[in-house]
Amino acid sequence: MTAASRYLWLLVLLGLFIHCSEKPTETIVVPEEKWPFRPPSTQPLDAFVMSAAIGRGFNLGNALEAAVEGEGGMVIQDHYFKIIADAGFTSIRLPVTWSAHSMTVPPFYIEAAFFERVDHVIQEALKNGLIVILNDHHFDELNADPQAYKGWLIALWEQIARHYKDYPDELYFEILNEPHGEFNTHPEWWNSLAAEALAVIRNLNPYRMTVIGPINWNSINSLPTLELPKEDQSLIATFHFYDPFQFTHQGAEWAGEEAQSWLGTKWSGTLDQRNAVTAQLDKAVKWAEEQGRPLYLGEFGAYSKADDNSRYVWTDFVARSAEKRHISWTYWEFGAGFGAYDREARAWRPLILRALMPGG
Ligand code: BGC
Repeated sequence: MTAASRYLWLLVLLGLFIHCSEKPTETIVVPEEKWPFRPPSTQPLDAFVMSAAIGRGFNLGNALEAAVEGEGGMVIQDHYFKIIADAGFTSIRLPVTWSAHSMTVPPFYIEAAFFERVDHVIQEALKNGLIVILNDHHFDELNADPQAYKGWLIALWEQIARHYKDYPDELYFEILNEPHGEFNTHPEWWNSLAAEALAVIRNLNPYRMTVIGPINWNSINSLPTLELPKEDQSLIATFHFYDPFQFTHQGAEWAGEEAQSWLGTKWSGTLDQRNAVTAQLDKAVKWAEEQGRPLYLGEFGAYSKADDNSRYVWTDFVARSAEKRHISWTYWEFGAGFGAYDREARAWRPLILRALMPGG
């Protein structure tokens, strides 16, 4: 070894020594928003506790269930979640029409950009401490022809379940909004498809809370046809409530021409009117008790064409009656046609807010 190369080696060794003894720098970079906050549970959770945790919440309707967000009347803004949480609400249900954002033939891939948008919305809600119930909405093809399109639903859930498998327990899944159409004459088709979708979900989400409701638009009267997989304890049964329909859907453009003739229908909470509501809720409770399942009212609301006072009295009565029966709920919906929040005025509609959150 020449003197020059020995000198070079010495330099290399010295460099190594200095590098290894370097202290870590003092500036520790904390990720701005560590995501996900917490991995999901590796133990079964108590479905009754998780159902109760939904508490009082909102459907973020008329947004992500449109073919293009905004076409349904609403684009979800990040600050809505703070407004909702600050008013004391604890959950949101997120209607999403996945089938409008996926391939219509196998392998039914969901658009990456759409997933990113849904991710963002879910994360904003979770950051504000809200439970999120993520559903599959407006799957018209499936309701019209379940046998032809069931593979599409399974493929969607395979992807959704994989995509969100590391999300915290506060993200719940709901397999299908309001099964209807051909399912109504074949409730067994719905039961077997729901079980199949659940099995796909369970591969990577063994204990994630999953919501399932009956045919006939999640009607209480159809709860007896619903068969939930017995061994799965991470399930919450759901139903929707819009009775009397002539009152809640008066003037609703999507409820047919007849709905125009219902305009002016009032609901003042007479004894008969109240009994009609509680008799239905009691039916739901009886079914749930027999099945040993928690109950969640996923949608209820009265369209804004009804008079404000009737809307207040009905909404207050349904919400309180559900709560008395330990049924958590999400009102239909936050900021559009049934809206509790006036997005133009940037203010809550005081009567609807008070009906949903007494003292609010
Ligand atoms: C539907 C909405 C409708 C609401 C009340 C929801 O399940 O997706 O389009 O406005 O029910 O009828």
